[in-house]
Amino acid sequence: MTVLDPSEAAPAQPGWDALASAARGCVACPELVATRTNVVPGVRPAGADVLLVGEAPGAQEDESGMPFVGKAGQLLDGLLAEAGLPRERVAVANVLKCRPPKNRKPTRPEVARCRPWLHRQIELADPVLVVTLGGTAAEWVLKPGVRIGEVRFSDVYYAGRRVLCTYHPSAAIRFGPKGQPMAALREDLARAAALAAELRAGR
Ligand code: URA
Repeated sequence: MTVLDPSEAAPAQPGWDALASAARGCVACPELVATRTNVVPGVRPAGADVLLVGEAPGAQEDESGMPFVGKAGQLLDGLLAEAGLPRERVAVANVLKCRPPKNRKPTRPEVARCRPWLHRQIELADPVLVVTLGGTAAEWVLKPGVRIGEVRFSDVYYAGRRVLCTYHPSAAIRFGPKGQPMAALREDLARAAALAAELRAGR
């Protein structure tokens, strides 16, 4: 059997949907392949020009094959609506396309093996703005050990696209409605909406 190598398969994909199909056949990480129900490549509504990047699917995402449909996703939906970032303008993907067992953190080798999928998704979606949610996604764009509090307001670029790094909705849930991550996430999504409008106008 030929095992599909993401570093060869991903760059060859001509479109988002083709990439999603190819990623569904990925068997690069044996532990994840053994425990996953579905691969969760991500979603891109036609016309979406902002890409949100999370960490990895959780239990409900693994069940449904769709990103951010659990508790964190519900909070995200509410905050996006509040920020005036309509869902039809937002694509969503994760650093890892498969759920790590018991929602453990993705390992560095897993992130490295999965990397070509998200890299190609960014090229294919060609967003005006990428918004990273949480530490894993910020590290994916920047470098290991980066702290969100230190880069929230930085001018970050990845593959020529503007990036805004903010907290993960799960952190906002964990620290509660009056916690700093909730306030920061709400504020950052509003900033993301304004920045996307500005970048769109300048394209
Ligand atoms: N958390 C993530 O990072 N991604 C999802 O898709 C769901 C929860």
